[in-house]
Amino acid sequence: MLVYDKTNILILRKKNFMSYILAIESSCDDTSAAVLRDEKILSNIIITQKEHEQYGGVIPEMASRQHYSNIDSAVDKALKVAGIDKSEIAAIAVTQGPGLLGSLLVGVSFAKGLSLVLDVPLIGVHHMHGHILAHFIDEPKPRFPFLCLTVSGGHTQLVKVLSPLQMEILGQTIDDAAGEAFDKVGKLLGLPYPAGPIIDQLAKEGKPLFDFAIANVADFNFSFSGFKTSVLYFLQKEVAKNPNFITENLKDLCASVQHIIVKTLEIKLIKLIKQTNIKEVAIAGGVAANSGLRGRLQELSRLHDFNLYIPDLQYCTDNAAMIGMAGYFKYKAGIFESHEMTPDPRLVF
Ligand SMILES: Nc1ncnc2c1ncn2[C@@H]1O[C@H](COP(=O)(O)OP(=O)(O)OP(=O)(O)O)[C@@H](O)[C@H]1O
Ligand SMILES: [Mg+2]
Repeated sequence: MLVYDKTNILILRKKNFMSYILAIESSCDDTSAAVLRDEKILSNIIITQKEHEQYGGVIPEMASRQHYSNIDSAVDKALKVAGIDKSEIAAIAVTQGPGLLGSLLVGVSFAKGLSLVLDVPLIGVHHMHGHILAHFIDEPKPRFPFLCLTVSGGHTQLVKVLSPLQMEILGQTIDDAAGEAFDKVGKLLGLPYPAGPIIDQLAKEGKPLFDFAIANVADFNFSFSGFKTSVLYFLQKEVAKNPNFITENLKDLCASVQHIIVKTLEIKLIKLIKQTNIKEVAIAGGVAANSGLRGRLQELSRLHDFNLYIPDLQYCTDNAAMIGMAGYFKYKAGIFESHEMTPDPRLVF
């Protein structure tokens, strides 16, 4: 029997396996909107804020203003590419945290407003769950339980993923994140922000001739601050002898920096694979785009006999498709937020 009240429209859409989810991501400096039809990505629009480049890092106030200017067009374009009208949206998923408060506020306020107007449920997504669940966008998908090395601008974590809704952090950085290490060391080398992708490119033509400190941290945790300081002191010493040292050795310096960051990550990952005996291993986050890390982990997967899952490049750095994927799992489980939901820069994992 067909009943035309709002709740039953939702149930009917579920039964027809045709639920359109609008996803919004605005935790840092990318304004992104995506549309999913169930778990299939129909569109994924990313507006990257280039304005921060000249300041060598993200300026929070500027980021939130840019999100405010960009969010309307990102959502309109996502709907247009997906070929649907606002009225067809069944739920709205949005990054609730962690991230920059002003940036999160724009996405969350927009999502709340639209969900009220359309009278559809609101789904709050943890940004790092989004990075991990990006693995469910394309084939092949990891099987549960799997280990995920999540390496991004703000996080470096080793996570045991039991299900899309159940994850446990087994290790993490005690200071800087891997992406932050790439960016900060890149700044020392005179490279623009974000330096990670540039170091990756330059490293391809260099050799890891220089040695830097790898921190010895307990358990499955990481540390990058000692490494950063060791690069700083090394450069200060060499530049005092030869002012052109950095430009003359840039490619080898990049290859060396990348080599040490990858080495730091692989030591703990391999230790965890051996301890847990879990042979399904994924990497996620912006640094998962690094060709050195991807290549080295592929080698290690053959050597230590584990299945490695690497997301498509477009789903490594911030994007709303991954937030939609995480939102889809919550939608299926019926986990929704009230309109009292607020952004949380330190949202618990
Ligand atoms: N090819 C690459 N090699 C190394 N680092 C990279 C590469 N591509 C991107 N990065 C790094 O990834 C980071 C951005 O990733 P991402 O967008 O996931 O981080 P974030 O969202 O700022 O942080 P978080 O997800 O922890 O909140 C930057 O530090 C950037 O330098
Ligand atoms: Mg991110």
